Amino acid sequence: MESAMTPDISIGGTGMDETGMDGASMEEMGRALTGQARLAGVLGWPVSHSRSPRLHGFWLRRHGIDGAYLPLPVAPGDFAAAVRALVTLGFRGANVTIPHKEAAFALCDVVDATAARMGAVNTLVFRDGRILGSNTDGFGFLESLHEQAPGWAAADGPAVLLGAGGAARAIAAALLGAGCPALTIVNRDAGRAEALAEALGGPVRVAATAPLDGAALLVNSTSLGMVGQPPLAIDLSPLPPHAVVADAVYVPLETPLLAAARARGLRGVDGLGMLLHQARPGFAAWFGAEPVVDAALRRFVAAGIPRSA
Ligand SMILES: NC(=O)c1ccc[n+]([C@@H]2O[C@H](COP(=O)([O-])OP(=O)(O)OC[C@H]3O[C@@H](n4cnc5c(N)ncnc54)[C@H](OP(=O)(O)O)[C@@H]3O)[C@@H](O)[C@H]2O)c1
Repeated sequence: MESAMTPDISIGGTGMDETGMDGASMEEMGRALTGQARLAGVLGWPVSHSRSPRLHGFWLRRHGIDGAYLPLPVAPGDFAAAVRALVTLGFRGANVTIPHKEAAFALCDVVDATAARMGAVNTLVFRDGRILGSNTDGFGFLESLHEQAPGWAAADGPAVLLGAGGAARAIAAALLGAGCPALTIVNRDAGRAEALAEALGGPVRVAATAPLDGAALLVNSTSLGMVGQPPLAIDLSPLPPHAVVADAVYVPLETPLLAAARARGLRGVDGLGMLLHQARPGFAAWFGAEPVVDAALRRFVAAGIPRSA
């Protein structure tokens, strides 16, 4: 019985060196985790679509860090218990995605000012037994604009924001925090836009149609233009020539909105940049290195995402 169940673990075959590993495996061993490996991951439901493990995995390899970043599928009712388990297991922290961002906010011991304004957390850091929360989506959005539209500043002029969901909330708060002088929110559900405007305060109004004449920035934060969704129907001709057009959608990478903006000679900013930049603060906090967004990272994370609609 025992001999039938016992696997053959002998390593005496050809092609092995004295450690029992061939050349390719030795290279893999160079990346193997130790007992001190730093751990983080992304909590979501579902989470299989998330690009974050690929993104953080790229940076971990680039920096040669003894660490891992895992997809962590957690059903809504299990969220608090799962986070406490990660603390117990010694994880450094985690990203939080749909549908847990509000539950994460409620669970934190301390949140930063941006997360407090939004009532939603996308980055958890576990330190000294406490759960610290922040929201880096708005940071990612602004950094992406600075990268892809160099010289752009939120104070340049009025902005128009299409959408009033989670992404819109982060983008609007970031624009206002960075000095946007006037923000108009346009959304299918006007009541949702009104509620967001009220929560934000400041120079924000709601309109039924986008006031593009004189706008310095147009942002799409609806899911329109995403693969499987209807395209965003909007005439960009009233935008002034210096206007920047940004899309939160990153599947496809070049949405019909961005293609139309570039065809008009306007600067376009894609949604992938926001995704990449929002990940930087979490990586730095968990793994102790300042990661960089560059062309190699973009190519790696964008693999498999359709280029155009
Ligand atoms: N690049 C990034 O890092 C990043 C981060 C977050 C989100 N995103 C992307 O941003 C988009 C929105 O995400 P979210 O989290 O804000 O989603 P959400 O909270 O569900 O909000 C969806 C928004 O899209 C609008 N919308 C949906 N279908 C519509 C339709 N047929 N016609 C008009 N408006 C419609 C909704 O309007 P109503 O309020 O009227 O329903 C709402 O404003 C998604 O494509 C997502 O992938 C990107």
